[in-house]
Amino acid sequence: MTSMDVIVSLCKRRGFVFQSSEIYGGTGSCWDFGPLGVELKNNIKRVWWRDFVQERADMVGLDASILMHASVWKASGHVEQFTDPMVDCRECKHRFRADQIDEVPWLHFCPATKGNKFTIPAGEPCKHCGVTRTLCPDCGKGELTPPRQFNLMFKTFMGPVEEDAAVTYLRPETAQGIFVNFDNVLQSMRLKLPFGIAQIGKAFRNEITPGNFIFRVRELEQMEIEFFVNPHDQVDGRPADEDWHDRWIADAQAWYVRYGLDPAHLKLKEHGKDELSHYSKRTVDVLYHFPIGWSELMGIANRTDYDLKQHSKFSGKSLTYFDEERKEHIVPFVVEPSFGVDRAFLAFMLDAYREEEVRGEKRVVLRLHRELAPIKIAVLPLLKKRPEIVATAHGLRGRLSRQWRCVYDDTAAIGRLYRRQDEVGTPYCVTVDVKTVGDREKGEAGDQMVTIRERDSMEQIRVPMADLEAIFGRLMGETAWPEVAAAYPRAEG
Ligand code: GAP
Repeated sequence: MTSMDVIVSLCKRRGFVFQSSEIYGGTGSCWDFGPLGVELKNNIKRVWWRDFVQERADMVGLDASILMHASVWKASGHVEQFTDPMVDCRECKHRFRADQIDEVPWLHFCPATKGNKFTIPAGEPCKHCGVTRTLCPDCGKGELTPPRQFNLMFKTFMGPVEEDAAVTYLRPETAQGIFVNFDNVLQSMRLKLPFGIAQIGKAFRNEITPGNFIFRVRELEQMEIEFFVNPHDQVDGRPADEDWHDRWIADAQAWYVRYGLDPAHLKLKEHGKDELSHYSKRTVDVLYHFPIGWSELMGIANRTDYDLKQHSKFSGKSLTYFDEERKEHIVPFVVEPSFGVDRAFLAFMLDAYREEEVRGEKRVVLRLHRELAPIKIAVLPLLKKRPEIVATAHGLRGRLSRQWRCVYDDTAAIGRLYRRQDEVGTPYCVTVDVKTVGDREKGEAGDQMVTIRERDSMEQIRVPMADLEAIFGRLMGETAWPEVAAAYPRAEG
């Protein structure tokens, strides 16, 4: 399995992810997406929006503001319940989640070895004296305070005065922006149940034990759908909300597989009664086999009518739907598939990463799905000393860039340029060479053909420059490489 260190290093080296404010020593669990990272992230969001919003007749989109009325968070239960139990070390003042403290290695000064210092794996006792951890895992000396509930919302002030009345929060989930707009969307779009409202946006959580790269961050991005269902409807003899819940669980998993995740790296986890959030009738997490172990990639909850009823109660506004058939006002149930952009990014990177041996040399390749790849095409000149080759390659980059993210690179020999593109997941390289442009001094005309190299197979074909848009149109669409390649002569690598 690919280790987290390998991905962190690749992300930094090749401009995917940088630590936030790195020159000042970094900001805890905040990350910046670099030139290639922003492309990958945008591609993830773009295909998600296309697949779940644009292509569905039962879905509309929304972009609600991050700052909302403070009452929203009272109504939603976040002020009361969006908390983690935390303990503090009385010596070093480090803070831990009480429920996760035995999931980290602990420092121990062992009395059986005259106080020798050992770092002991998470949850294990000391081999020498047999004791288990009771003190601070970081300093090994401090007593821990009893657990206290710590609210994960970032508090801030609205307006010029820092007083209690001006307190509000950065949203900890995008979902509430959808609930408070339920009636606006329903009335303006004249929707019929069942229908969904989708939103992509930032959310903020003051996580106590953040870490593991972009797996747990304080500023995250979510892609959420609130899918509203009439609870009185039945599908195959079951309540409609339960049927839709199962459909969304299947559709969400299929989406990750479609864009490259190995189904063997995914599994479902049903929340036990004691784990369910305050609003949930049933929640199922999709877990991914991250290097830190099986962990939540996304969650799909049946939030019932909890949120709409709470907002109706706190705002005094009716948030109902008129069921024409039964001639009654009802409060819809909500099924919520909640995707995390950052965790999807990490999972797609981990699953795409391969180290292969090619002609006795190591090749690192990111086998990213073509729609996710940050760069779609790299145009490379075989000889940068020949001005006609360079000019032709620049011209091609300009032409192809109108449709696809495309780069030009001439800063190394061709073998190296290919490896660089492999490492960032570029599915196709186009090479311009002497035969393409010919030699004016020798009176030789160019054949106006270029080489296309495919990343995964490393096969190369020779194609007319004039056909490039048509060829890439097919390759970036649904036509597989072997079908396109079969129509052209092979070029030698
Ligand atoms: N609206 C429901 C909700 O927010 P959640 O399980 O707390 O549910 C949904 O979050 C998804 O958001 C998670 O499955 C994960 O992908 C992402 N997520 C949540 N907290 C995160 C964090 N601190 N860092 C990165 N992603 C996070």
